[in-house]
This record gives sequence, structure tokens and C-alpha cells, in this order.
Amino acid sequence: MSAGGGRCRVSVSAPAKLNLGLEVVGRRADGYHDLVTIFQAIDLVDRLTLTPCPTLRLICDDPTLAGADNLALGALAALRRVAGITTGAVVELAKAIPTAAGLGGASSDAAATLLGARRLWDAGIPDGALAHLALDLGSDVPFFLRGGTALATGRGERLEPLPSPTAWFVVVSPRLVIPRKTATLYGALTATDFSDGGCVRRQAARLLGGEPLAADLLGNAFARALYALRPQLAELPALMRQHGAPAVALSGAGPSHYAVFAEVAAAERTSASLSNVLGRRASVAVAVPFVQPYPRSAT
Ligand code: C5P
Repeated sequence: MSAGGGRCRVSVSAPAKLNLGLEVVGRRADGYHDLVTIFQAIDLVDRLTLTPCPTLRLICDDPTLAGADNLALGALAALRRVAGITTGAVVELAKAIPTAAGLGGASSDAAATLLGARRLWDAGIPDGALAHLALDLGSDVPFFLRGGTALATGRGERLEPLPSPTAWFVVVSPRLVIPRKTATLYGALTATDFSDGGCVRRQAARLLGGEPLAADLLGNAFARALYALRPQLAELPALMRQHGAPAVALSGAGPSHYAVFAEVAAAERTSASLSNVLGRRASVAVAVPFVQPYPRSAT
């Protein structure tokens, strides 16, 4: 502990997420959309180390992500303001999650920063207030405060914990830049892309009953709009199936796709052969269940 009651150094890991099905119910009066999705944290993680510093700073092993617009800096500033903290912090961020890929990397880094800075500064901010700060930073950020598996509704901030599926995932993240991707893809949705959330809720009921994931309930409302915007992506699911993927789905607003496997050996075979043909790593990931007490702080 430092003289001020806070800590000298806090390490936090920030997991990526997959969307195990994503339905958009409709557009709201505030411009956001109501959705129904299952968030699943996976063991593809960014690592953050926070230490005290007079100002607020971010150092990242990908310098292009260390700008003032990084959500982790926004998280530091928001928590410092609300907690009335007068010192600062430096966040050292080691990225493993591909950026703007539909895997929630920036949101997860922001949530991990909130959790890490609360410990570093010994800030007496309760979980509910932290969740409010998280939602101000982005719709996906509240999920990452707990991780695990959760049914999400509203903007994505109304969360109901679910049992994690026993499954292995092969994640493919094509290099593809769509400016203001999330807003652009929400804006490209039409009424035909909307649905009532019934498929995702059926998937949630299966997880509650201890059943495996159903491939036909992994649909994603962004698929049509994404493939219309970037037609080359539409070929990826078929390619993944050719390399042994039994079920393929889109995560978030893409471009990451994932395949679901019941056996790790089959996942590794598909990962190896896809990595070969794509010339980039198709990583094998496993679900990270939520475990109480909160497990991600190493220090
Ligand atoms: O909440 P976040 O900052 O991630 O959202 C980025 C943009 O995506 C929003 O400005 C909005 O256009 C769109 N969005 C939405 N409905 C949601 C989440 C995001 O329309 N539930």
C-alpha cells in the first residue's frame, strides 16, 4: 500500500467477448437500439498495469491506440472525477485482442481500467456507480465489469448471468477497417433486420438447462448489412466450414467470425488449417466463466 491508502501497482486482465447470437429489436427514441444478445467472455485477453502518476496517462504496445480518444483514458478521467481523487495514474496496456473487430477489446480495456483504478486509488465507489460510469463509456462496457456469460438486453447494459457453455471457439478476425464501424452498421439496419429476441432467449434457456449451444440460434442481425458493405466477408463462413467448422457466427458488428466446437482437438485442427490458408492466426479460445470473488486482478 502507498502512503495515501491506495496501491503501488495493480494488474488487471481484460477478456474479449463473443456474441452468442445477436438480435436487434428496434430503434429507440434516444437513437440507440434495443438488442438481445448473449455475451461470452473468452480467454483472449489484453493486460493492463496501473501505477500512480501525477497525471492521467496511457502507454500502449500499439502506439496507434494510445491517443486521447482511447476509452481507457476516459475511464480513468470519469472515475477520478466521480471519486474526487486528486492523484493520477498511468495505464500500461498490452494488446492481444484485435481492435475494432467485434470482440469488445476497447470496451473491455475500459472496464478493466475502472476496476483497476478503483483498487489503485482505493476509491470507495460501489459496483452500481461503477456500472453507471461504464455505460457512459459505451454500451458493452458494463458487461466487462463481471465478464462470464450473460444475457444482455436494452442497449446491452441489462445483464442476467448465465451458465457458461462447454465449448471451444476458433476466432477469425479479418483485417478490415470500417470508419465508425458500430454506428455505421446500426445505421445500415433496416426493419427486415429486426427481430423479437426469441432466438437468443431460446439459446439462453438452453444454457440455463445445461444444454450445448444450438448452431441455428447464433444468428446476428448485422450479418446482412456487413456483407452488403464488405462483400468479400460473405465468403468467410463457407471457407471456415470447408476447414471443419460445424457452426459459424458473426461477433458483434464484425468483422470477427467464430466457429463453435464441442471438442478442443477439432477446434485445434480447424485453427491450424485456417491459419494456414488465411496467412494469419485463427486462435482457439475457451469460455471464461464468471467466478466469485472477481478473479481478474492479479495484484
Ligand atoms: O454505446 P457505444 O458508444 O458503443 O455505441 C456506438 C454507437 O453505436 C452509438 O452512437 C449508436 O449509434 C450505436 N448503438 C446503437 N444501439 C446500441 C449500441 C450502440 O444504436 N445498443
